[in-house]
Amino acid sequence: MTLTQKESWGTRVGLILAMAGNAVGLGNFLRFPVQAVNNGGGAFIIPYLVCFLLMGIPLLWIEWSMGRFGGRSNNHSTPFILDSMTKRAFWKYFGVFGIFTNIAVAAYYCYIESWTMSYVWHSVAGTFNDLSQIQVAEFFRNYLDISSSHSGIPYEAVVFYVLCLLLNTWILSRGLAGVERAAKIGMPLLILFGIFLAFRGITLGTSGASAEVPTASAWDGLNFLWTPQFDSLSNPKVWLAAAGQIFFTLSVGMGTIHCYAAYVKSKDDIALNAVSAGFTNEFVEVVLGSLIVIPIAAGYLGLDWVKENAGFGMAFQTMPFLFEKWGPFLSAAAGVMWFGLLFFAGITSSLAMGTPWMGFMRDEFGWGRKKGAWTFGLIVLLLGLPTVIFYQQGVFDEYDYWAGTVALVVFALAETVLFAWIFGMDKGWKELMSGSDLKVPSIYKFIIKYITPAMLLVVFLGALFTPLDNDWTGALNSLFSGNGWALDHGSIIKTIANSGLHEQLAAATNAKEITRLEDRLFFTNLARILLTLTFLGLALLVYIAGLRRMRTSKHKAK
Ligand code: ALA
Repeated sequence: MTLTQKESWGTRVGLILAMAGNAVGLGNFLRFPVQAVNNGGGAFIIPYLVCFLLMGIPLLWIEWSMGRFGGRSNNHSTPFILDSMTKRAFWKYFGVFGIFTNIAVAAYYCYIESWTMSYVWHSVAGTFNDLSQIQVAEFFRNYLDISSSHSGIPYEAVVFYVLCLLLNTWILSRGLAGVERAAKIGMPLLILFGIFLAFRGITLGTSGASAEVPTASAWDGLNFLWTPQFDSLSNPKVWLAAAGQIFFTLSVGMGTIHCYAAYVKSKDDIALNAVSAGFTNEFVEVVLGSLIVIPIAAGYLGLDWVKENAGFGMAFQTMPFLFEKWGPFLSAAAGVMWFGLLFFAGITSSLAMGTPWMGFMRDEFGWGRKKGAWTFGLIVLLLGLPTVIFYQQGVFDEYDYWAGTVALVVFALAETVLFAWIFGMDKGWKELMSGSDLKVPSIYKFIIKYITPAMLLVVFLGALFTPLDNDWTGALNSLFSGNGWALDHGSIIKTIANSGLHEQLAAATNAKEITRLEDRLFFTNLARILLTLTFLGLALLVYIAGLRRMRTSKHKAK
């Protein structure tokens, strides 16, 4: 395809699957169950669904509308999509977030994706056969320590990370057609594998109960997740977690949806497509995501174990051991399905993360898709290697916090204000409705204009000023009685100052612990420097692109 030909999606099914694939990711299977468990199970679900309806769906419509609007004037990434909606030049720098976040998230996200690749391999190779739970957990810890040669593959974590990036880059170099193809293969397989594992999960009943936890039942896990607790509605901590999950799982506030939507033909529907992709994601997250890890782990190890051990690593440290109980053949098959499912979920999301950079370089600097894809791979490799090598020192967590959490909220807030208040709600609504196959209830005009930005602001302020120990009632009482507002170490403000780490360092007496904390402090700051440099580098490119556009338009005017 030459640069003058406009690229667009091949089919509607391909577009919806690619968009759903962008949303359905590791977050659905690894992050959602953990967030739900850590926030009280059924206590989480109501705030989660409210956030979906009042922030998730509106943001999907906003981003699809902005993307298709930008695409009409040949803009395929957020800096100039935002620029096309307003006369004020500074908005394009807000748009930098829409490229930056993707690169930074891809850097650590592809690392988890590479674990799943490696675990598919180990499931086939029978590495986990006859290992005890402690040994399976140890295998994962050794995997993360890149210098250990636990599996016979030297530097296994690095090898699989590079392989995973190569695969992503190669698919991306084939353009939208490659992305569409990956979604058409990956999404149905993922759902098929998910249904099989979910079926195993719910039919496990109490048959998984071991002698140590004789009362364990898969149903305990499900009941815990699905018994709504209305008192959670007044707990801001749960609301913040629910909002964060909605952002991450729908990939809103990232810039990928704008980019994908920019390739939608200008007369095609976006309103129904957005809802279809959003609900597909919710089905996979809420139904399949909650029917696998938690019930199976609860069925074998008991609900208390799950509550105490819920974490990202559960899928890697526990599932291979639990699958072993299904006999040699089924355990290998379940391992391939589980890690294969995670892999497909991951790759359809990470591919999306490559497209804003490629779209930007193509629009502004005339780069072909191969050059765009390979440079994306290279930048992600350079930014991502520190997450692999210094995983234990916290680089990974730092990227996840700033790029995968804070940046999403900041950008979502900015784009909502731009869409509803600067571009204008009436114009925005017209864009959403143009070519629409769905009559969106007009209450959403009000929601998008007032409720969504208000909620986003509250979420942002809540994260910025999180009170000590997340005790909101105590903090408000203290504020109104004139005793000020004590911040938690987890608040954005205290996190910037690294105050939690400094406090631990001040209290540490053991030399080994002091070295560990000092290392952590060093690598935390290093991660921030790398992220800042990436952001500034992209802002510089946007600045240069702006100058080039100005020159071209002057030239044309002459
Ligand atoms: N939306 C993607 C996920 O859930 C990033 O993992």
